[in-house]
Amino acid sequence: MLKITWDQRLSWAVEISGSKNAALPLIAASLLLEKVTLHNVPRIGDIFSLLEIIKSLGVTVDFTENTLVMDMSKISLTGMNRELMKKIRASILLLSPLLYRFGAVDIPFPGGCNIGKRPIDEHLNGLREIGYSSMDSDESIHLSGKLQEGDKNLSVGFAVTATENLITANVLRSGHTQIHLAAIEPHVANLVDFLRKQGANITINYDHTIDIIGVEKINPVWEFSVVHDYIESGTFVVLGALASQEYIDIHHACISGLTSFLGKCQEVGVRFEDRGNDTLRVFRSEHLKAVKFQTNIFPGFPTDLQSVFCILLSQAEGVSRVQEIMFEWRLNFLVELEKMKGHPALMNPHEALIFGPTHLRGATVSSWDLRAGVAMIIAGLIATGDTFITNVEYIERGYEDIIGKIGKLGVQIERTE
Ligand code: EPU
Repeated sequence: MLKITWDQRLSWAVEISGSKNAALPLIAASLLLEKVTLHNVPRIGDIFSLLEIIKSLGVTVDFTENTLVMDMSKISLTGMNRELMKKIRASILLLSPLLYRFGAVDIPFPGGCNIGKRPIDEHLNGLREIGYSSMDSDESIHLSGKLQEGDKNLSVGFAVTATENLITANVLRSGHTQIHLAAIEPHVANLVDFLRKQGANITINYDHTIDIIGVEKINPVWEFSVVHDYIESGTFVVLGALASQEYIDIHHACISGLTSFLGKCQEVGVRFEDRGNDTLRVFRSEHLKAVKFQTNIFPGFPTDLQSVFCILLSQAEGVSRVQEIMFEWRLNFLVELEKMKGHPALMNPHEALIFGPTHLRGATVSSWDLRAGVAMIIAGLIATGDTFITNVEYIERGYEDIIGKIGKLGVQIERTE
């Protein structure tokens, strides 16, 4: 449980960590290679879980501070930790590299945060198109076969990890692969960059197509840096606007990835300034106004920032309208805001109204998923009285040293049993 005490006002600066959703596919794609060193890897729950899984596959792992060294020379399928694979969604990213190496793989259906249906049909359809056949049982997915040569047109319906899986699956396949309706989030671009630097021939286009010309081999040993986390950065934008003394400086703010989000912040009345060198200064902002917003695929407003933005809207004058098009359970966390005397109204699984401004009161609330959990931290920072947050493991899955970072800004936040 987290305890947050009222009335500390934040100031100064925060450093954004490496991106969870970039590091996970990079680790998975590394299994195509022999030895990889990744820098700027966040020390968070989902990364530790994925590392446990690849260790169970015989990969030697050295994770010191934020540098991760992986040696794949003894990789095998025999000791696979299936229980852990069921728990994290990112385990699906292992499908392509393991298939490439072993020609057949059987993995459990992946789990993940409690945010709505998480189908994997786009992953499987794409892999079938290039030569693998699949047999699913209730609990696991079995794929096997031989990569076909030749040109292929695939389509992934903007699904993020499916795009990543299909990029990894086609890099070494002879022929031209065109992935249509591809996700082009900054973490997808980071994976493309990683593979290109090893010799893969991939072009990512802003019309949401990705072209891959298969190469015979890629560099087996490589070193690369994970991009910073634009979602963590957006989280601190809201925190700075609502809870800073005067302002906070966000270093490695990933400003270029946050265009839609910052546009909406501006519409609400958040004041910020680009200080150069990817540093964003966010001022404590008052007289906020209600807005309408809709989550979308990149470069639209990210679903992963919807919950923290709802906390911002709870302080805005008027009635805001939120449309969450991606995940049907992701607005459910608003019941926790209600416990803190906020006034949200859930209209249907994809739409909510938020009435503001409201004076939030400390309460015991739960993290519904990792983003909703961090939203409750921000709510706790602006509430009167103490806030207790349960299920903090969710938050720790995705935010590196969140207690340390917020604590350094001057707030009283502690982890209790
Ligand atoms: N979808 C399908 N079929 C598929 C895959 C997805 O219909 O085969 C649908 C889903 O039902 C959903 C939408 O497409 O409505 C988005 O799902 P997507 O596959 O894009 O999500 P994901 O790849 O499982 C990644 C991030 C999520 C983030 C979403 C959307 C990683 C490891 N996870 O998930 O991150 O919310 O993209 O941007 O990259 C988080 O970090 O908190 C998180 C949940």
